[in-house]
Amino acid sequence: MTDYPLTSALMQRGTDFLGSRYAILCGAMSWVSERNLVAAISNAGGFGVIACGAMTPELLDAEIAGTRALTDRPFGVNLITMHPQLFDHIAVCARHRVGHVVLAGGIPPKGSVEAIKAFDGKVICFAPTLALAKKLLRSGADAMVIEGMEAGGHIGPVSTSVLAQEFLPDLAADHLVFVAGGIGRGEAIASYLEMGAVGVQLGTRFACARESIAHPDFKKAFFRANARDAVASVQVDPRLPVIPVRALKNKGTEEFTAKQIEVARLLDEGGIDMGEAQLLIEKFWAGALRRAVIDGDVENGSVMAGQSVGMVRAEEPVTDIIAELMAQSEAALASR
Ligand SMILES: Cc1cc2nc3c(=O)[nH]c(=O)nc-3n(C[C@H](O)[C@H](O)[C@H](O)COP(=O)(O)O)c2cc1C
Repeated sequence: MTDYPLTSALMQRGTDFLGSRYAILCGAMSWVSERNLVAAISNAGGFGVIACGAMTPELLDAEIAGTRALTDRPFGVNLITMHPQLFDHIAVCARHRVGHVVLAGGIPPKGSVEAIKAFDGKVICFAPTLALAKKLLRSGADAMVIEGMEAGGHIGPVSTSVLAQEFLPDLAADHLVFVAGGIGRGEAIASYLEMGAVGVQLGTRFACARESIAHPDFKKAFFRANARDAVASVQVDPRLPVIPVRALKNKGTEEFTAKQIEVARLLDEGGIDMGEAQLLIEKFWAGALRRAVIDGDVENGSVMAGQSVGMVRAEEPVTDIIAELMAQSEAALASR
């Protein structure tokens, strides 16, 4: 017997794969998804994911050990593919026998998927297009996350509802697909499960949970904000393809425009190449996000948030958030 039989039945393949009670992942959020939130999510029956972000391998090592001390439930680690120490991060995951590694931020470099599978880790990838998803699945990815532009943080150009219609009819029968981006309530979870998703990934809804170490002012900014406050960054120079980031609009959003102009000038002067330019941009985001999440500077920092931010109104324990999502999904399915 489960508390939510209809939802749990549709999540079965997802929960078998993750080893968690519910196929609800808390997407990795740099600075936010550290041991406390990750362990709380996994202890509540969801699936927590550590955000490695710009961490050194030593810091990642400590974070995994710290998380293990707080939970004996499964959790994952999210690695950024463009990090220059990606393979060292994978070695740390291997040492800790991390069950699931999420490769984010771009196409996994050669050998990375193999290195994770070599220690029996499961590989979860993001795919922006159906063709790339198929290629990644052929090359060994065990599951996919499709993430629409409603999400907080780095985003693609297509909405979750369109991605779901493009990917799920083709992939759902034979592959494990989790849907992310803009999910704030259980009714939406129910509808993606009915379309064939095996689970969902949420970030914004969990960022301000009681167990999240985010600064009280970061949380207050979330509670005050509505969907239209969570805007995507604009690209100022066509030669500098920056991945857009969705965050609450503030002075930091404007600073990003200035940063892009500065990096484009460096490119023009030949001082840096495109790879270095993109790393400079990513470093900007990591620093700006830290300022908002840890220091509470919500004016100048980057308050990354998805469009579902309007559905986050108060600081709640993770167990309550998950119970509410599951109950809403269950009621929706029961009423069909
Ligand atoms: C504050 C914040 C930081 C994030 N940082 C990362 C990250 O470091 N790596 C990553 O893969 N995704 C990151 N994301 C995306 C989340 O993992 C998740 O996929 C997304 O939040 C889901 O969409 P939602 O915000 O609409 O729930 C971040 C999201 C937020 C809100």
